[in-house]
Amino acid sequence: MNINKSLKISTKKLKQKNIPSATLDAEVLLLEALNKSNKNIDKSWLYVNNNYELSKKEETLFKNFIDQRKKHKPVAYIVNKKEFFGYDFYIDENVLIPRPETELMVEEVLKIINPPTPLIRQSLRAGSYQGGNRNFNLIDIGTGSGCILISILNELRKNKKGDLVKQSIAIDISKKAIEIAMINAKKYNLENNIKFINVDFREELNQRLFSNSNQFIITANLPYIRNNEYKYLSPDVKKYEPKLALTGGKNGLDLIEKLIKIISETEVKSELPNYIFLEADPRQMNKITAVIREELDSTNIKIIKDLSGKERIAILSYC
Ligand SMILES: C[S@@+](CC[C@H](N)C(=O)[O-])C[C@H]1O[C@@H](n2cnc3c(N)ncnc32)[C@H](O)[C@@H]1O
Repeated sequence: MNINKSLKISTKKLKQKNIPSATLDAEVLLLEALNKSNKNIDKSWLYVNNNYELSKKEETLFKNFIDQRKKHKPVAYIVNKKEFFGYDFYIDENVLIPRPETELMVEEVLKIINPPTPLIRQSLRAGSYQGGNRNFNLIDIGTGSGCILISILNELRKNKKGDLVKQSIAIDISKKAIEIAMINAKKYNLENNIKFINVDFREELNQRLFSNSNQFIITANLPYIRNNEYKYLSPDVKKYEPKLALTGGKNGLDLIEKLIKIISETEVKSELPNYIFLEADPRQMNKITAVIREELDSTNIKIIKDLSGKERIAILSYC
């Protein structure tokens, strides 16, 4: 069978199973079955070569992929990868599939560690420039695939600023997630730059981690779905993504509130501001802001909106 016919038949099969992105998914899976996806070849290749006859092996593999997608298995779990911030991450059902809105967090962290020149000029004018002696410790809580921390470190290295980060720690309660984050760190030659800790942060995030005078940046995309909303998630998410990575208790804020509380009880030694980046449901931002105001004195809070204009990331800076 040729590409044209294979795509038509498989798209129809996916539509019959109510897969919303049927056409795109069939294209991505076909490129993967043809072993083209790693070679910077995009879907236009399929249309230029639509008369190409699939080999028996390619046809069988493509059919197998489509059968999995028909059962609502997300494409990222079928092909075992997902692009995040321009980097490919190994992904399987033990970790959340990185979401595009989380890329915002990486962007904002990079602005703090390695501000673009116009930002430096702006803060110099405002008298708030804190350049100079800049040593950062990064702690990524609920690291999952490691996408946040690894993207930050990759970007800094690309810009020859890797030495601004003195220590990087990735924490996850799931042993399997830590194993996957380690695979991804190895893929980008960062396995010796990150300390991986398989613990519940509620037990382990304590004074010991804050024992030096570097500036701290905590990134946390913790589970924030309300328990009673879990049942309304799409079958792709509910059937395949780890529940441990999704639900955050009755109002979705159990873990985020706990983190803020732990931070408020921890003495930090840095004289320059420390930062916490929290991703949350836009509907939770008011509550999160109220908890921060209650728990942490002299904190600045900045809320960043995602591409759809929804409040998605809270950035706290505190001394
Ligand atoms: C929403 S996922 C985020 C994964 C990844 N950081 C990302 O942005 O794609 C939340 C992660 O937090 C981890 N997690 C949940 N509860 C935790 C806890 N108490 N301590 C440490 N990690 C936890 C889950 O295992 C999961 O990997």
